[in-house]
Amino acid sequence: LSLGNAFSAEDVTDFVDRLRKFLNLPAADTLEVLAEPKIDGLSCSLRYENGRLAQAATRGDGEEGEDVTANIMTVADVPKTVKGAPDVLEVRGEIYMTRADFDALNTAQQAAEEKIFANPRNAAAGSLRQLDPTITAKRPLKFFGYALGETSAPIADTQAGIRHALARLGFNVPEPALLAADAAALLAFHERVYGERPDIPYDLDGIVYKVNDLDFQRRLGFVSRAPRWAIAHKFPAEQ
Ligand code: IVH
Repeated sequence: LSLGNAFSAEDVTDFVDRLRKFLNLPAADTLEVLAEPKIDGLSCSLRYENGRLAQAATRGDGEEGEDVTANIMTVADVPKTVKGAPDVLEVRGEIYMTRADFDALNTAQQAAEEKIFANPRNAAAGSLRQLDPTITAKRPLKFFGYALGETSAPIADTQAGIRHALARLGFNVPEPALLAADAAALLAFHERVYGERPDIPYDLDGIVYKVNDLDFQRRLGFVSRAPRWAIAHKFPAEQ
């Protein structure tokens, strides 16, 4: 799946107006939208069967990803078992590296006359897509869960509920998050997190806004591979 982009305040108010119109919401009803950081990493889908991590795959070209199960098994941040989950549970999220871990990795790579990575995202991708999982095991990869794929039974009825359920199952979820009642609250949150970005230990490339109610998400559906119920509000590119 991919996400549409917003670059300006107007794009965000247009997004919220579009949602309200599509859902036919009366002016008096609030439309809750969940906002959370967009992690600049590598998207990964984890499939749990009967409480055990059964398969991990990258997004690849969107049609066909790579099976990275053996490598993901070495990532401490990824729960290998989940208690109280449905028989089938697919967790979508982002594999990433902190900036400090990236710097330390590059220093070690340089000392060993090995490949230098351009940025934390490339380092995360290169580390996950190793043929030898013992190399991946030595790389400081981390994981945030932010969405569900296939589930044999529902585990929440809101996006905020998905975050809580994932946290309860042992996943880290992107912080900070905000449940907003209008576009103004989303824009204030975007500005706040943009200001905090230097203090956040990993790279963010924006804020993702998602309609909170999963029934509304179903009604809104998708336009080709992108959900109509979500958008990525990008940060200006870092110099
Ligand atoms: S939600 C239906 N939340 O951004 C799609 N995506 O540009 C739901 N990403 O492929 C995606 N952080 O790899 C979502 N907090 C977040 C995210 C996030 C990073 C990535 C994800 C996606 C890409 C789209």
